[in-house]
Order: sequence, then C-alpha cells, then structure tokens
Amino acid sequence: MQDNKKSAEGDTAHYQLSIINYQFSKAQSPERPTRKQACLTAAPRTHSQGRPPPLEGGAEILAKRRSETLVGELKKEVFIIMNTIETLMTRRSCRDFSPKMPDEQTVCEILKAGSYAATGMNRQSPIIVCVTNRHTRDWLSRLNADILGKADFDPFYGAPVIIIVLADKNVPTHVYDGSLVMGNLMNAAHEKGLASCWIHRAKEEFETTEGKEFLRSLGIEGDYEGIGHCALGYASGDPAPASPRKENYISFAR
Ligand SMILES: Cc1cc2nc3c(=O)[nH]c(=O)nc-3n(C[C@H](O)[C@H](O)[C@H](O)COP(=O)(O)O)c2cc1C
Repeated sequence: MQDNKKSAEGDTAHYQLSIINYQFSKAQSPERPTRKQACLTAAPRTHSQGRPPPLEGGAEILAKRRSETLVGELKKEVFIIMNTIETLMTRRSCRDFSPKMPDEQTVCEILKAGSYAATGMNRQSPIIVCVTNRHTRDWLSRLNADILGKADFDPFYGAPVIIIVLADKNVPTHVYDGSLVMGNLMNAAHEKGLASCWIHRAKEEFETTEGKEFLRSLGIEGDYEGIGHCALGYASGDPAPASPRKENYISFAR
C-alpha cells in the first residue's frame, strides 16, 4: 500500500511525463491540423481508391511507438505512456493472473475511470462493487463456476481483484450503461499496466438468493442486474495477440 506522500509524488511524475509526451507528439507533427481543420480537409473518396487503407493494428502501433526516439533519460519513460488510441488497441483479455494484489490507489483510479463512463441521460444507472477479500472472491468464483457448469474451475483465472458491475433494471439503458463502465474499467486497467478480463454470468449470479443476499450484506438494496465482472490483476504471461478484425467490420457511407 502506498503512503500519501509517495502517491502524491507518483501523480506528479505521471503528470510531468504526460506533458513531455504531449510536447513530443507536437514536435513530431508540427503541422498537425486541428480536428475541425482535419474534417474540412479530409480527402474525398474516389472510385479508383475504393476502400480506405487498412487501419493499423495494436501490434503495429506499439512497434512504431517503440521505434520513436527521444533524448537522454526521458526515452524509457516515453515508451510506457500510451495515448488513448494505443490503449484501446493494445488491451487484451488476460486468462492467467498472478496472485499479486495491485496497490489500492491504482485500483481506485481504475474504479473512478469506470464511474466516468457515459450513461443514457446521465442517469448513472450502474453501480460498481470491488471485491478484494479472498474469501468473497473465492465464493463468487464458485457461484460463477456453478452457473457455467464447471465445478472445479476458477472462471476468474486467478485474478485477485474482481470488480462487479451491476445496473439498475428500471433504467432502459442500463445494459448499455453497465457495458460502457466495463469497457472503461478494462481500458483504464491496461493504461495502468494491469491485466483484465470481462467475465460473464453476472446476470445469473445476482438472480440467485445468494447473490441478492451478498448485495444486501453490503447495504445495496434495489433492482440491480449483473452486467459483468472485470477480473483484475497482474498478468502471469504475455496475452495472446489480437485476432485479425473481420473484413467487413467498418463501412463508410460518404
Ligand atoms: C460480453 C462479454 C462477455 C465475456 N465473457 C467472458 C468470459 O466469461 N470468460 C472469458 O474468459 N472471457 C470473456 N470475455 C472476453 C472475450 O472472450 C474477449 O474479449 C474476446 O475473446 C476478444 O479478446 P480481447 O479482449 O483480447 O480482444 C467476454 C467479453 C465480453 C465483451
């Protein structure tokens, strides 16, 4: 667990590095148009061009990033800072976690990022329950495995932290809202150097008497549907590479 002084120093360091990265990006492309200019100057599609060029995948982005250089001591630090697109494209599901518990401050930052997901009409229908207690985590794992029909299997792949996202059934957008929270959690985890995996069957879990009792034991009353679990921790090995995107994933109507 980090003490307050250390945490404050960590934040400052991260902030400074972000500025360095920003200046670095600016220096690399001084002519970069503003977003509005980019829209106005985007090349129109021509028949001879046909499809737009393929998008770079996560691995290509990372390789490109690694080949960039910066002077002196800063070089190493810049490598580990990802911009949003890199984070989104290089996140992968982890299915082999180390038992090492991530520090509480990092977990709290990830939870906070989850709570800032967009929600329909800003009704903030989801709630987030973060399980770090070993006994509760193992109980949840058994409940999930029972639903899956695999008694001696840990559906959380050894992850020490299980973040449960539930959402208020009375809000028409609750499943969308909760799913966006899940996305934020997984991407924030990746940005913070932690591994994650969406684990399903939360809906069925919190339809059981045990599941409902668990929520009541935490003082959570209401009509909540389980959306998903974000298994969180350190990866034990390298994640599998992203599978290729299907050919017709993206279309344009220009
Ligand atoms: C709605 C949803 C449910 C999922 N449920 C599980 C699950 O129960 N167990 C699991 O190992 N992975 C689960 N995943 C993770 C997917 O299998 C994974 O996202 C997919 O294989 C793509 O891999 P990637 O996340 O590395 O890109 C789920 C993902 C989503 C979006």
